[in-house]
Amino acid sequence: MSFKSILSLAALLPFVTAQASPYSETIDGYTFIKSGPNVLLPKIQYEMKFAHTALSILKTSIGPDGLIAALQPEIKKADTFWHDVIDSSTGSWVPADGRGIAFLPNLTAIRFAAWSQSPLADAANNDANPEHYVKRTIALANGTLESEIVEGWGGVTTHFTIPNYGTPDRVKNPFLRELPEFPIQAAGDKVLMDGTIFGVLHISVRDVKGADYGQEHDGVEIYASVWYGDGVADAHLEEEREHITVEITNLALQAQKDIESGVFNPPF
Ligand SMILES: *[C@@H]1O[C@H](CO)[C@@H](O)[C@H](O)[C@H]1NC(C)=O
Ligand SMILES: *[C@@H]1O[C@H](CO)[C@@H](O)[C@H](O)[C@H]1NC(C)=O
Repeated sequence: MSFKSILSLAALLPFVTAQASPYSETIDGYTFIKSGPNVLLPKIQYEMKFAHTALSILKTSIGPDGLIAALQPEIKKADTFWHDVIDSSTGSWVPADGRGIAFLPNLTAIRFAAWSQSPLADAANNDANPEHYVKRTIALANGTLESEIVEGWGGVTTHFTIPNYGTPDRVKNPFLRELPEFPIQAAGDKVLMDGTIFGVLHISVRDVKGADYGQEHDGVEIYASVWYGDGVADAHLEEEREHITVEITNLALQAQKDIESGVFNPPF
């Protein structure tokens, strides 16, 4: 070995020794050993990061109107799915429930509610869950917020509006829970583009004491339910429960970021 090649080997040595040892993980019951990246993490962590990037680029490039046009075949399938649920329901309603408590230094229940009504919430919505495609909200003349949404749950990719999100109407929808421990609540119909009400959304928020959970900061509890006719399969409700918990976490995190960065100035 020449002197020169010994020198270049020595130059390489710090990198060789600094490299993390191979990483072993079990996927689908099989063992995989990998190395290369400076920071070795489970495959799912790299893959989720890349999936978020790809979805974000696709959604932004195609845009809301392009997505609505491209997804028409899926939207038609979802319309059929919901009409079948309604036709096979007995008149009783069942919920898909998801709850989450977030411990974030700058978030309170009233701040989360105010952020949720701001344009920042629409902007965050497409990243709140991979199955979010479109959300745009307009303020109606009577002050009610009307949202147009394309969203999927386990592939049931639905185009709908929420035309009346506001104080829960327990006369029209007596199945909505009272939840007296939640001071901030809103509800609204989920309406297919043909005018059919296929669900009712109910979101409640409250402050919780960090000390009750061994946490440094007080927390915010978000309790979301979507009510459907009892013809819906529990397997579908389970997709929605999973979806809701992802959404609660990501939206609470984004609200915290927007307050921390000063993009959102909480009025309280
Ligand atoms: C956010 O929390 C940090 C840490 O508690 C605090 O210093 C800061 O003033 C808070 N900002 C707002 C806008 O509440
Ligand atoms: C506002 O108008 C919309 C659309 O007509 C209606 O669905 C909603 O119930 C109204 N809200 C109130 C508070 O009157």
